[in-house]
Amino acid sequence: MDILEKIGELKRSKNAVILAHNYQIPEVQDAADFVGDSLELSRKAAGLDAATIVFCGVHFMAETAAVLAPGKTVLLPEVEAGCPMADMINARELRAWKAGYPGLKVVCYVNTSAEVKAESDICCTSSNAVAVVNSLGVDRVLFVPDKNLAAYVARETGKTVIAWDGYCYVHHRFTPKDIEEARALHPGAEVWVHPECPLDVSELADKVLSTGKMILEARKTSCREVVIGTEKGIIYRLSKVNPAVKFYPARETALCAHMKMTTLAKVLRALETDTYRVEVPRDIADRARGAIEAMLKIS
Ligand code: 13P
Ligand code: SF4
Repeated sequence: MDILEKIGELKRSKNAVILAHNYQIPEVQDAADFVGDSLELSRKAAGLDAATIVFCGVHFMAETAAVLAPGKTVLLPEVEAGCPMADMINARELRAWKAGYPGLKVVCYVNTSAEVKAESDICCTSSNAVAVVNSLGVDRVLFVPDKNLAAYVARETGKTVIAWDGYCYVHHRFTPKDIEEARALHPGAEVWVHPECPLDVSELADKVLSTGKMILEARKTSCREVVIGTEKGIIYRLSKVNPAVKFYPARETALCAHMKMTTLAKVLRALETDTYRVEVPRDIADRARGAIEAMLKIS
């Protein structure tokens, strides 16, 4: 029996489902039942009629799935697969920071731990951050942890977005020069970038899109060439969704080491040994769910 057959057999016997983020390696994407962005996958986890979810992504995504799907077993195949940006703030730091801004609402990016979500008023994703901030009906908000997404939201909403000093090490490395060079190399191409890129990069793009919105755009685009400013793994999925389009990475080295830790062998191990189980204490999960549900109401 090969590895895919073993995974398939264990999935059936355990009533398990495999979810994979858009940045996962091709073999893992191909073995998954669903591929998507962080929130799509967590929502999927909540709605599935499965006992076990194998979450091929990073820790905060599996935690969000555990919060939205209490009672299901959520497994992360690689225990070290965290998100360095999510780890840039913890609940204690957020409590101390927000105490300096009494009365201001806290918006947390979905790339945060459940304990940080539990300290926030509302969650957001890169797809809906602008709509979430607009929905609050206030002029000033606190935003954690991504300062680049915060700067983009401030530009789009005209509001004062006071940001934590966090960033994604993959997207923060994109520079205006990357976009200028890509345009010179592919003069007919559109440029799509993720809002975790610095604002001076987003300002040079034709479209600023979350990974989920890049997939939607790829399905309907009439362009024949597109330069992509996000983690390179998404190009495999984009090319599958629309093989008529040539997708080029704006940076060859834009790779998230944490997203690449998950392999098929680790997916098999997860199913064989029920590891690594991601659980969120009930009181934290209930408060984190409040912030996530406040977001789901408006998007
Ligand atoms: P998405 O929510 O757009 O999938 O992004 C998650 C992420 O980690 C981006 O770096
Ligand atoms: Fe975190 Fe960036 Fe990796 Fe996404 S790409 S998981 S934000 S480090």
